[in-house]
Amino acid sequence: MLTINGTKHHVAADPSTPLLFVLREELQLTGAKPGCGEGQCGACTVLVGGEPVHACLTTVAQVGERPVETIEGLSNKPAFQRIQQAFLEAGAFQCGYCTPGMVVAVSALLRKNPHPSAPEIRSALEGNICRCGTYNRIVKAVQKAAEVSSNA
Ligand code: FES
Ligand code: FES
Repeated sequence: MLTINGTKHHVAADPSTPLLFVLREELQLTGAKPGCGEGQCGACTVLVGGEPVHACLTTVAQVGERPVETIEGLSNKPAFQRIQQAFLEAGAFQCGYCTPGMVVAVSALLRKNPHPSAPEIRSALEGNICRCGTYNRIVKAVQKAAEVSSNA
Protein backbone atom coordinates (compact mmCIF):
# COMPACT_ATOMS: atom_id res chain seq x y z
CA MET A 1 0.00 0.00 0.00
CA LEU A 2 1.32 3.44 -0.96
CA THR A 3 -0.18 6.83 -0.13
CA ILE A 4 0.16 8.95 -3.24
CA ASN A 5 -1.17 12.49 -3.46
CA GLY A 6 -3.37 11.79 -0.46
CA THR A 7 -4.92 8.59 -1.79
CA LYS A 8 -4.02 5.06 -0.70
CA HIS A 9 -3.17 2.67 -3.52
CA HIS A 10 -2.70 -1.07 -3.45
CA VAL A 11 0.45 -1.76 -5.37
CA ALA A 12 0.86 -5.02 -7.25
CA ALA A 13 4.59 -4.58 -7.85
CA ASP A 14 7.21 -6.31 -5.74
CA PRO A 15 8.52 -4.16 -2.82
CA SER A 16 11.92 -4.01 -4.52
CA THR A 17 10.38 -2.26 -7.55
CA PRO A 18 11.45 1.36 -8.11
CA LEU A 19 8.77 3.87 -7.19
CA LEU A 20 9.13 5.49 -10.62
CA PHE A 21 8.02 2.29 -12.32
CA VAL A 22 4.97 1.98 -10.06
CA LEU A 23 3.97 5.60 -10.61
CA ARG A 24 4.31 5.53 -14.38
CA GLU A 25 3.39 1.97 -15.32
CA GLU A 26 0.96 0.91 -12.63
CA LEU A 27 -0.74 4.19 -11.72
CA GLN A 28 -0.29 6.12 -14.98
CA LEU A 29 1.20 9.09 -13.14
CA THR A 30 3.68 10.08 -15.83
CA GLY A 31 4.73 13.51 -14.54
CA ALA A 32 7.94 12.13 -13.01
CA LYS A 33 10.20 11.44 -15.98
CA PRO A 34 12.60 8.59 -16.62
CA GLY A 35 16.07 9.93 -17.33
CA CYS A 36 19.36 8.37 -16.32
CA GLY A 37 17.82 5.70 -14.09
CA GLU A 38 20.87 6.05 -11.84
CA GLY A 39 20.01 8.84 -9.43
CA GLN A 40 22.04 11.41 -11.33
CA CYS A 41 19.65 13.65 -13.27
CA GLY A 42 16.60 14.37 -11.07
CA ALA A 43 14.06 14.06 -13.91
CA CYS A 44 12.20 11.52 -11.76
CA THR A 45 12.02 13.70 -8.60
CA VAL A 46 9.00 13.24 -6.32
CA LEU A 47 8.49 14.07 -2.66
CA VAL A 48 8.51 11.29 -0.08
CA GLY A 49 7.66 12.49 3.40
CA GLY A 50 8.06 16.02 2.01
CA GLU A 51 11.66 15.44 0.88
CA PRO A 52 12.71 15.30 -2.76
CA VAL A 53 13.90 11.84 -3.80
CA HIS A 54 14.93 10.19 -7.03
CA ALA A 55 12.03 7.84 -7.73
CA CYS A 56 14.18 5.76 -10.09
CA LEU A 57 16.32 4.59 -7.17
CA THR A 58 13.74 4.57 -4.37
CA THR A 59 12.00 1.24 -3.95
CA VAL A 60 8.42 0.70 -2.83
CA ALA A 61 9.79 -0.83 0.36
CA GLN A 62 11.90 2.26 1.09
CA VAL A 63 8.86 4.52 0.79
CA GLY A 64 7.02 2.50 3.42
CA GLU A 65 4.24 4.48 5.08
CA ARG A 66 5.54 7.89 4.12
CA PRO A 67 3.31 9.97 1.85
CA VAL A 68 4.36 10.41 -1.77
CA GLU A 69 3.64 13.65 -3.62
CA THR A 70 4.03 13.81 -7.38
CA ILE A 71 3.75 16.75 -9.72
CA GLU A 72 0.16 15.71 -10.46
CA GLY A 73 -0.78 16.12 -6.79
CA LEU A 74 1.19 19.32 -6.30
CA SER A 75 -0.18 20.99 -9.42
CA ASN A 76 -3.50 21.95 -7.79
CA LYS A 77 -1.84 23.89 -4.99
CA PRO A 78 -1.50 27.68 -5.16
CA ALA A 79 2.18 27.55 -4.12
CA PHE A 80 2.92 25.24 -7.02
CA GLN A 81 1.00 27.40 -9.46
CA ARG A 82 3.12 30.39 -8.41
CA ILE A 83 6.26 28.38 -9.15
CA GLN A 84 4.91 27.28 -12.52
CA GLN A 85 4.02 30.85 -13.44
CA ALA A 86 7.45 32.09 -12.37
CA PHE A 87 9.13 29.42 -14.55
CA LEU A 88 7.03 30.57 -17.50
CA GLU A 89 7.78 34.24 -16.92
CA ALA A 90 11.52 33.66 -16.44
CA GLY A 91 11.70 31.30 -19.44
CA ALA A 92 13.32 28.79 -17.08
CA PHE A 93 13.31 25.87 -19.51
CA GLN A 94 14.19 24.99 -23.06
CA CYS A 95 13.25 21.40 -23.93
CA GLY A 96 11.32 21.10 -20.65
CA TYR A 97 12.40 17.57 -19.81
CA CYS A 98 13.95 18.53 -16.49
CA THR A 99 11.15 20.92 -15.56
CA PRO A 100 8.75 18.58 -13.68
CA GLY A 101 11.57 17.36 -11.45
CA MET A 102 12.86 20.89 -10.96
CA VAL A 103 9.52 22.32 -9.91
CA VAL A 104 8.90 19.44 -7.50
CA ALA A 105 12.30 20.07 -5.89
CA VAL A 106 11.59 23.81 -5.79
CA SER A 107 8.25 23.15 -4.07
CA ALA A 108 10.05 21.30 -1.28
CA LEU A 109 12.66 24.06 -1.00
CA LEU A 110 10.14 26.91 -0.72
CA ARG A 111 8.10 25.05 1.89
CA LYS A 112 11.18 24.87 4.11
CA ASN A 113 12.84 28.11 3.13
CA PRO A 114 10.40 30.66 1.68
CA HIS A 115 13.18 33.15 0.82
CA PRO A 116 16.22 31.20 -0.32
CA SER A 117 19.37 32.94 -1.51
CA ALA A 118 20.79 32.09 -4.94
CA PRO A 119 23.43 29.76 -3.40
CA GLU A 120 20.70 28.03 -1.36
CA ILE A 121 18.63 27.54 -4.51
CA ARG A 122 21.60 26.10 -6.40
CA SER A 123 22.39 23.81 -3.49
CA ALA A 124 18.78 22.58 -3.21
CA LEU A 125 18.75 21.80 -6.94
CA GLU A 126 22.09 19.99 -7.00
CA GLY A 127 20.31 16.69 -7.65
CA ASN A 128 18.53 18.08 -10.72
CA ILE A 129 20.42 18.43 -13.99
CA CYS A 130 19.28 20.67 -16.83
CA ARG A 131 20.98 19.52 -19.99
CA CYS A 132 19.85 22.71 -21.72
CA GLY A 133 21.77 24.79 -19.17
CA THR A 134 18.94 27.06 -18.02
CA TYR A 135 20.25 27.22 -14.44
CA ASN A 136 20.47 31.01 -14.21
CA ARG A 137 16.89 31.40 -15.36
CA ILE A 138 15.76 28.67 -12.97
CA VAL A 139 17.35 30.54 -10.04
CA LYS A 140 15.58 33.73 -11.18
CA ALA A 141 12.28 31.85 -11.42
CA VAL A 142 12.62 30.51 -7.87
CA GLN A 143 13.41 34.00 -6.56
CA LYS A 144 10.40 35.37 -8.43
CA ALA A 145 8.12 32.65 -7.02
CA ALA A 146 9.41 33.45 -3.51
CA GLU A 147 8.75 37.15 -4.03
CA VAL A 148 5.22 36.54 -5.35
CA SER A 149 4.49 34.21 -2.41
CA SER A 150 5.52 36.84 0.11
CA ASN A 151 3.13 39.34 -1.51
CA ALA A 152 0.27 36.82 -1.75
S1 FES B 1 15.97 9.13 -13.80
FE1 FES B 1 16.08 9.25 -11.69
S2 FES B 1 17.74 10.53 -11.26
FE2 FES B 1 17.77 10.31 -13.44
S1 FES C 1 15.12 22.53 -20.15
FE1 FES C 1 16.03 20.89 -21.27
S2 FES C 1 16.90 19.67 -19.73
FE2 FES C 1 16.28 21.43 -18.68
